[in-house]
Amino acid sequence: KQVAILISGGGSNMMTLVDSMTGDHPARPCLVLSNNADAGGLKKAAAAGVATAVVDHRPFKGDRQAFEAELVKPILDAGADIVCLAGFMRVLTVDFVTQFQGRMLNIHPSLLPKYTGLHTHARALAAGDSTHGCSVHEVTAVLDDGPLLGQARVPVLPDDTPETLAERVLTQEHILYPDVLRRYAAGDRTPVLLG
Ligand code: GRF
Repeated sequence: KQVAILISGGGSNMMTLVDSMTGDHPARPCLVLSNNADAGGLKKAAAAGVATAVVDHRPFKGDRQAFEAELVKPILDAGADIVCLAGFMRVLTVDFVTQFQGRMLNIHPSLLPKYTGLHTHARALAAGDSTHGCSVHEVTAVLDDGPLLGQARVPVLPDDTPETLAERVLTQEHILYPDVLRRYAAGDRTPVLLG
């Protein structure tokens, strides 16, 4: 299976996915694509020998369809069978999602269905949650929704800040996402539950 990974920033999740796809793993990375030419993950991907591409969303202003018409081209050219969103910060339209229905994954830093959207760690702290974590799900037309493929839980500690909590969650993301992708690429959709 060929995997395209979409990023917007540092790409730490992307790199753990790239590094995991070796040996008898049923998938290989075929593309790292970003909406942001300055995304730090692009250099990391290139250094790892993975093809990269940039489709800047800004020239398209609010025209999501026009942006996505460009965004899809390198994905199709690379022959991707699976698309992994990994810190990709653009909302995708139902048309784009439908084109990859059943073969597009996303990682979200909360225990879905709690805290869809942004600032998940601050919201979990504000709510006084004792447990938090991350989720990998199939992408559907509803933001941060879709069938759960994996979750990892972490404790919330009394002196946590959004930053310390985010760091603890990110560590689990780097364990969960590769585990889910390996199973997903082998056709196994049994949810992975860690921690
Ligand atoms: C992180 O906040 C992570 O929780 C979320 O995207 C952000 C950037 O991750 N998935 P990455 O380092 O670019 O993978």
